[in-house]
Amino acid sequence: MTKRILFVCLGNICRSPTAEGVFRNVASDMDVEIDSAGTGAWHIGEPADGRATQEAAKRGYDLTPLRARQVNRADFEYFDLILAMDLSNLRNLERMRPAGSRATLKLFLEYAPQIAEIEVPDPYYNNQFERVLDMIEAASKGLRAELL
Ligand code: 4NP
Repeated sequence: MTKRILFVCLGNICRSPTAEGVFRNVASDMDVEIDSAGTGAWHIGEPADGRATQEAAKRGYDLTPLRARQVNRADFEYFDLILAMDLSNLRNLERMRPAGSRATLKLFLEYAPQIAEIEVPDPYYNNQFERVLDMIEAASKGLRAELL
């Protein structure tokens, strides 16, 4: 059965679209449906941040078709797995989650135990796009292995 996975960050223009683009590639042979969203509303409808798109393109991931959207209550029923980039995203998701909804909520970096950090840092202000991509690639491989 198709596994539905949603990647979530704050703006849905840096980390979660990167995770969506990378995991689409990593899981291209798997029965998965993949999407991303942000807890915040500032960037709804916008393409991914140019810095994220450029860094991803260097490694062969195409973020250009992606457009930002905000997480909504229906996501907690539709998706099997909702993966938060940081603890703040996870707390916000837990707060908005309707009682009894079926999605499992986790930190994405749970799938990369070899990485010491548990959060994907927000690269919007500090430009750590390469580090973010390294972390996302590692967690994507771990997630793939877990789903196989
Ligand atoms: P993201 O990064 O959560 O990885 O998409 C951010 C993008 C925009 C903002 C914050 C984080 N912002 O405050 O506009």
